[in-house]
Amino acid sequence: MSKPSPTLTVTPARRKQLRKLATAAAKHSYSPYSRFRVGAALLLSNDSIVTGCNVENCSYRLTSCAEQGAIARAVAEHGPGIRLHAVAVANLNHAASMPCGACRQTLTEFGDNSTLILYPGENGTPEETTLGELLPHAFRLEHLEPK
Ligand code: THU
Repeated sequence: MSKPSPTLTVTPARRKQLRKLATAAAKHSYSPYSRFRVGAALLLSNDSIVTGCNVENCSYRLTSCAEQGAIARAVAEHGPGIRLHAVAVANLNHAASMPCGACRQTLTEFGDNSTLILYPGENGTPEETTLGELLPHAFRLEHLEPK
């Protein structure tokens, strides 16, 4: 039997907690260039939560997004086998924002089509979608290792 989708299993209380933790993480953002303060909270399949924030650089292209920082931290803390159940993104700029294209690919490495994505919509409305919706037809590890 296939496992139930996180869209069903991540409770409303859990979703609220993830959004709150992402917002708290954004307070640590290092973003002197864009002043766009972003945080991310990952819910792993082992039920741990790991957060990250964006870290910018004066060589602008070296900026690390909040999601990428959180993924690096999750692997460092929990090992290479991590799987993403849900991801919350938040910012302190009262802006609508969802994971950028590069982050969608980074998250896809450790998530699947049903990974729940929580993000702020217009006027601060809490919105949600799935990784499969955000990055359909993704390039995946199995493409490097065809059967
Ligand atoms: N940013 C993130 O942290 N995550 C995203 O998914 C979108 C963009 C950061 C990168 C940069 O520090 C700032 O937001 C403005 O682009």
